[in-house]
Amino acid sequence: MNLPKISSLYGRIFAIFWLTMLLVVFAILAASQLDPRQLHDIPTGPLKLMQESGQDITQKYQNANSALRSIRQINQSNDDHSKFNYYFTDIDGNWLNSSNGFRQKALNNFITLADKSELPQQRLYGKVMIAGPIPVIIAKQKLHMYFSIRWHQPPFILQLLDRPFQLLLAVMLTSTPLLLWLAWALSKPAMRLEKAAQKVARGELEVDPELEKGPNEFKQAGASFNQMVLSINNKISEQQRLLSDISHELRSPLTRLRMANALAIRKQGGSAELTRIDTEAERLEKMINELLELSRRQIDAHQIRQHLPASELWSDVIDDGQFEAEQQGKTLHCNPIPNGYLTGNPNLLTSAVENVIRNAIRYSLHGIWVNFSQRNNMITITIEDDGEGVEEHELDAIFRPFYRVSAARDRDSGGAGLGLAITQNAIVHHNGTIKARRSQHGGLAVDIKLPTSV
Ligand SMILES: Nc1ncnc2c1ncn2[C@@H]1O[C@H](COP(=O)(O)OP(=O)(O)OP(=O)(O)O)[C@@H](O)[C@H]1O
Ligand SMILES: [Mg+2]
Repeated sequence: MNLPKISSLYGRIFAIFWLTMLLVVFAILAASQLDPRQLHDIPTGPLKLMQESGQDITQKYQNANSALRSIRQINQSNDDHSKFNYYFTDIDGNWLNSSNGFRQKALNNFITLADKSELPQQRLYGKVMIAGPIPVIIAKQKLHMYFSIRWHQPPFILQLLDRPFQLLLAVMLTSTPLLLWLAWALSKPAMRLEKAAQKVARGELEVDPELEKGPNEFKQAGASFNQMVLSINNKISEQQRLLSDISHELRSPLTRLRMANALAIRKQGGSAELTRIDTEAERLEKMINELLELSRRQIDAHQIRQHLPASELWSDVIDDGQFEAEQQGKTLHCNPIPNGYLTGNPNLLTSAVENVIRNAIRYSLHGIWVNFSQRNNMITITIEDDGEGVEEHELDAIFRPFYRVSAARDRDSGGAGLGLAITQNAIVHHNGTIKARRSQHGGLAVDIKLPTSV
């Protein structure tokens, strides 16, 4: 059978409550209907038996002389082999034979309820079922015959009716699957939505089509959620594209400025001011180039995520670093990379660590120490060097874009001051942390912590 599918949560909750109510009402009605202590029609099987024995009796005793004697005979012949007892009244309801005690009281009560021979009925009194009346003719007299029989096993329903607590329990048990289904229908999409929100919080801006399934209300919430993720993605990409366009556009006037400056030097001969203009323009060009490179690399990078082992991300960076350090007569020491996995954008994660290592190589005197460790779902990378290091009050500032410590600025060495800003950005984007401190080797120590994923 194909039940109509209720797709709205509102409809489902309503239907389930309604069904449960119906079940309870139905159970109570059915229980009272099935109660044998109520007056009921006699089932056809036993009714037929009773009518047959009525006919037998009529046949045997209709022409007898005395009704009372015949009744005594009937009861005597019945006593030994049948569980039935027979009782007779005349059509006015006066007993011709009687019982004693409780059974007689029950019989008296029963004939006030059932005295129509065309509609024989039955009712349970204690452990005695009384049925009748069946019309018979004894000694040419029209009589009503009643039966009584011992009723041994009180039925299960009767026990339930006598104990309302058990009845309640039975109804609760039968409605449990319905309620469980309701709870499941409610909680499953909610949990799905919660997981998706957690993913977004981790920076995984992915659209999940699974969210657009289930009850209508959740389907709509899921669709809105996906739309939100999409629009965040678009906003980020738009901003990065804007940055890329701006830095690209800035380059052309700068190139023209440097060309004009070179021409001026050639025409008028060099001067301290013109040389200064040239160096500053060159520095500006370098900064813009780095900005352009950075924005190009970051466009859409937040949308590309992979699940990769740490060694795959950083072993090349370490090899390159060792080679570069060697070229400068320095040594890069590194312990093995742990085998944990990370989820994220491989380009961002690789360049984050590369920037710090390149700094360490540039500012060190003899040695660079890279240490990987993994504990409690966290990978820690510490990069240290034995250079001059950074003053305590500048340890936080070096992560700002274009920030260069005063000594480096004066020395006019190094890059634009973007490396650490890029690194911090990437690490935070992957739910990690980055901190700078003084190293035991004398220079700078940078600690990067990143969560692993299974
Ligand atoms: N290992 C280090 N030792 C001493 N100073 C450092 C170290 N690493 C970074 N710094 C200081 O922090 C500043 C910022 O570093 P950052 O990597 O952001 O820029 P940069 O190396 O100058 O240029 P870029 O990385 O963009 O080429 C550097 O200019 C330098 O003064
Ligand atoms: Mg750098």
